[in-house]
Amino acid sequence: MKKIIKSGTIVTASDTYVADILIENEKITAIGSNLASDGAEVIDASGCFVLPGGIDPHTHLEMPFGGTVTKDDFETGTIGAAFGGTTTVIDFCLTEKGKPLKTAIETWHNKSRDKAVIDYGFHLMISEINENVLQEIPSVIEKEGITSFKVFMAYKNVFQADDETLFRTLVTAKEHGALVMVHAENGDVIDYLTKKALEEGKTEPIYHALTRPPEIEGEATGRAAQLAGLANSQLYVVHVSCEDAVERIIEARNKGFDIWGETCPQYLVLDQSYLEKPNFEGAKYVWSPPLREKRHQDVLWNALKNGQLQTIGSDQCSFDFKGQKDLGKDDFTKIPNGGPIIEDRMSILFSEGVTKGRISLNQFVDITSTRSAKLFGLYPQKGTIAVGADADIVIFDPAAERTISASTHHMAVDYNAFEGMKVAGEPVSVLSRGQFVIKDKSFVGAPGKGQYLKRAKYGSFHPTGEKEGMSV
Ligand code: URP
Ligand code: ZN
Ligand code: ZN
Ligand code: ZN
Repeated sequence: MKKIIKSGTIVTASDTYVADILIENEKITAIGSNLASDGAEVIDASGCFVLPGGIDPHTHLEMPFGGTVTKDDFETGTIGAAFGGTTTVIDFCLTEKGKPLKTAIETWHNKSRDKAVIDYGFHLMISEINENVLQEIPSVIEKEGITSFKVFMAYKNVFQADDETLFRTLVTAKEHGALVMVHAENGDVIDYLTKKALEEGKTEPIYHALTRPPEIEGEATGRAAQLAGLANSQLYVVHVSCEDAVERIIEARNKGFDIWGETCPQYLVLDQSYLEKPNFEGAKYVWSPPLREKRHQDVLWNALKNGQLQTIGSDQCSFDFKGQKDLGKDDFTKIPNGGPIIEDRMSILFSEGVTKGRISLNQFVDITSTRSAKLFGLYPQKGTIAVGADADIVIFDPAAERTISASTHHMAVDYNAFEGMKVAGEPVSVLSRGQFVIKDKSFVGAPGKGQYLKRAKYGSFHPTGEKEGMSV
């Protein structure tokens, strides 16, 4: 089974050039000019960019949360992802205190195995460190290929871990070659502020944002960064939303700490005023951390441009407006946190970032794919277009225009956070390991075709032999 992608403009994190790509079975086997097409299926990509498939490092598919379960599962979520040009997702596997890690991992395998249409891996939540957890960690890394751990500094009495747990996770991760991810908000202070707001009768969605101000995120980000420095470990801060957190990340990186930051499309283009929409519509825009005042958007864009933030995750965590978000109709603390972003993650970054001159085309590839592949142990199998890499390829028409809408999206959820927004550029066809998942804008994949990815340890990729660090 051979395919040849002809005459497209190949874009990687470092290069832009016109060439043909030969695909044999699941891999890219040649790149060059005028490759002979003998017997191969020819895909004409002239006028299009040919990009490495996107890697979404942050999803919550079929996850129990906020008294309900996220609407998009591994089937609808990965179909939406594929339409948007993403060919790999890394989902957060939730653990429960007192239960073996392997029970949680099995649960996540069972949710995903027969459903995913693209490849996927798991991060593992760590909520406690004890002898049993420490004993299991080597096999989680070696056998399951789960080389990133997530610690929540917020969601008190639900997911929140204390500082000892965070610190010991950092130490353990360093020892075994894993990357520690943090949700950085001060959960104790949020708990106090939310209770106080409710006592004062403040129940509307906007109070979700007002009870978790930027200082709360900045403080937790700084604390996590200092603890990572003290442990001489590695840290990845998820869903960075504000200047306060960006500043803490820059300071830590300037000290030479091994710290990375992710932001999300919603923080780049939506702002806090959305939470004030009438008729409870503000609930559609409830994320933690919350949407911020508009001025933070420029800070985030600049940080992406300057390499101070390195990746973009969707934080896909979708709930229907009707039947799920309205659990919090009379009390903002009961609104399930999160939104449907997986499908439009790359579109937003291309349209608002590349076409508006905020980031370069090569940075777009780095931010949406290559960097996550390197950080999460998938490079160079994924995250680039090179001989020997998986043929995870997006044929992207930069001239296409579309209007984002729930009436045309492919996620299962009943609204789109970017409803009515016009975006430039659209994936035309998407291949996962050499097979079409999207062909001429139609879904041709199948549930179960996505494969589970065992990932390499943190820092295994050393392009110039140096320690994985700032200059990669
Ligand atoms: O509001 C959010 N971000 N929901 C998803 C869970 C999380 O904190 O990442
Ligand atoms: Zn989070
Ligand atoms: Zn999340
Ligand atoms: Zn390196």
